[in-house]
Amino acid sequence: MTVKITLPDTSYDITIDTLKTISIDKKVVIVTNPTISKLHLDYLLSKLDIKNLTVFEIPDGEQYKTLSTIETILEHCFENKLNRSSMLIAFGGGVIGDMTGFTASLYQRGIEFIQIPTTLLSQVDASVGGKTGVNNKFGKNLIGAFHQPKAVYIDPHFLTTLPKREFGAGVAEIVKMAVCFNKEFFEWLEKNDLNDGNNINIAIQKSVETKAWVVSQDEKEKGLRAALNYGHTFGHVIENETKYTKYLHGEAVGIGICMADNLSVELGLMTQDEANRVKKVLEKYDIPTSYDIKDVEDFYQHFFLDKKSLDSKIKFILAVGIGDCKITSDTPKDLVIKILKDF
Ligand SMILES: NC(=O)c1ccc[n+]([C@@H]2O[C@H](COP(=O)([O-])OP(=O)(O)OC[C@H]3O[C@@H](n4cnc5c(N)ncnc54)[C@H](O)[C@@H]3O)[C@@H](O)[C@H]2O)c1
Ligand SMILES: [Zn+2]
Repeated sequence: MTVKITLPDTSYDITIDTLKTISIDKKVVIVTNPTISKLHLDYLLSKLDIKNLTVFEIPDGEQYKTLSTIETILEHCFENKLNRSSMLIAFGGGVIGDMTGFTASLYQRGIEFIQIPTTLLSQVDASVGGKTGVNNKFGKNLIGAFHQPKAVYIDPHFLTTLPKREFGAGVAEIVKMAVCFNKEFFEWLEKNDLNDGNNINIAIQKSVETKAWVVSQDEKEKGLRAALNYGHTFGHVIENETKYTKYLHGEAVGIGICMADNLSVELGLMTQDEANRVKKVLEKYDIPTSYDIKDVEDFYQHFFLDKKSLDSKIKFILAVGIGDCKITSDTPKDLVIKILKDF
């Protein structure tokens, strides 16, 4: 199945299916890491019809999502004499996708790239929408560019080797899309198990349709796209407090969704029953939903480190019932403190 994303300057297809042969008559570099390469590179190569191809591996891990790694990819491109009509292929999870896309935006002021995401999180979220970038000592994803891929190929086959926790992390982002934008999809998630049969393909499709719809309304995140940060304002503080080691990003988002929902309940935007239903879906996939806040005031101050907290105002994305949401930046501090104390 194909989802189309239409933007002012570009449009592209997101194909969700077993990979068919991809023919490219250009010089191509596949960027990947040793973990993915070992598991799936042969499979990918068997599906590619590209004469002029090299593979470049970067180390595996978020800690390598840096400008110095970008430099190594660029050097490989220069050594192999890529030109302005050459192309990169991002073959991996969100880390590979963000870095390959960013490199493509930089090489000779921008060349094309294709996303072939291999984690659930990157299939349902990171590979779509053209946000690319790296981290630095000031924070995550602070350096980057909007650079849309030429195409996205999502093959659920790759998920067969994904560790269970990584799968759960992707489910948290699926739940995010459903709670914020699609009530029927959420009800479907309540009734179905994503580990069974064809269900994951359906969930990927629904999530990608939702993300494509959001991005096509607001490519550069001037408004609506910020709603995709539901659960993230809290989640980023949790990731930061636990030094990015205890929880995967999606797991921190799962906890963050529960915190955001408690705030929605406090503000009368959501019923307790609705918040419990969201929690129940997360728990079905062993996504953590509780967190021991050591110091509530400290936790609150951490919100201001987030680049999305513009002008010292904290931006919360709050579910309105199930299937709708709102973006706020005027939530009274005492209410936030209350839900943090009660969490
Ligand atoms: N650009 C965006 O819009 C966007 C959105 C969300 C997240 N992100 C970024 O995505 C990154 C997180 O992505 P992620 O969760 O995919 O993490 P990741 O890319 O680090 O992948 C997680 C782990 O799974 C391994 N892996 C990948 N595919 C595998 C497979 N098929 N089988 C077994 N192991 C596999 C990877 O090597 C890695 O060790 C973060 O850097 C985040 O900032 C970007
Ligand atoms: Zn996320």
